[in-house]
Amino acid sequence: MSFENDVKNIFENGIWYHSVNFQNVKSKGTFDYTNLVYELNLPNMKNKTVLDVGCSDGFFSKFFLEELSADSVTGVDFNEYDGSVAFDVIKSREDGYSEKYKTQNDYEKLKNSYLNLDLKDSNKFNLLKKAFELNMIYKTGSIYNLSKIDSHDITFCGSLLEHLRDPITAIEQLYFKTNDYCIIDISNSLKRKFNFFDKPLIKYTGAGGNFYHHSKKAISLIMETVGFKNVDSIKSYKIKIEKYDYKIPHEILIGYK
Ligand SMILES: C[S@@+](CC[C@H](N)C(=O)[O-])C[C@H]1O[C@@H](n2cnc3c(N)ncnc32)[C@H](O)[C@@H]1O
Repeated sequence: MSFENDVKNIFENGIWYHSVNFQNVKSKGTFDYTNLVYELNLPNMKNKTVLDVGCSDGFFSKFFLEELSADSVTGVDFNEYDGSVAFDVIKSREDGYSEKYKTQNDYEKLKNSYLNLDLKDSNKFNLLKKAFELNMIYKTGSIYNLSKIDSHDITFCGSLLEHLRDPITAIEQLYFKTNDYCIIDISNSLKRKFNFFDKPLIKYTGAGGNFYHHSKKAISLIMETVGFKNVDSIKSYKIKIEKYDYKIPHEILIGYK
């Protein structure tokens, strides 16, 4: 197969978190941001370096480079792409999550194409980097310890906080690595109809790897407390889970150094 056909094969038959377009093929992601991403009010990133924590397949990293003119992106993710669970789960739920994760790895199924592309695992961030010749680099790591990562002009953390036991440490780590500003996209954001005083709310979901739903006010309070200034909302939106007819609420916040 040619380079293009191998890429297309993985786009067509691989397991994807995001829908991504490659020529006339669109991967079947859990979420399709391909049009919505233009409506998120993400600022221009001309000549800026970006740290994308919890970068997954690099859909947002690619957007920062191609559409917002970022200079370079470092993507950090906990995923080792060896079939092990890429989330912080509690012991009693580990078995369930590890069964689920085994089914998320398409490497064996598409091995020939990955090998032809010189990719040693199913990391889609590295696939996008190669397919689109993007100035981005993947580092395995956790948001809880970014000490070995350089500071970047912009830090971005999309849809990760709900999966963390400790969002405070995570946001503080982002603060330490931010030169200009940080953008946080809160997924499954919490809204209460009768929250007249706009109290900062966090709700434990009862799950073992998808811990809390946070209100916009809760995350902005944490951002301010770790040191971010002028924390502001840039977008409220909903996105459909492609498999179900269900939309997940999100809030995007920005905070400055
Ligand atoms: C729900 S996805 C979000 C992907 C993308 N950022 C977005 O906005 O759509 C969360 C990602 O965070 C990663 N992740 C989970 N725990 C992490 C941690 N402690 N540190 C860094 N990444 C983590 C997961 O492997 C997954 O790729």
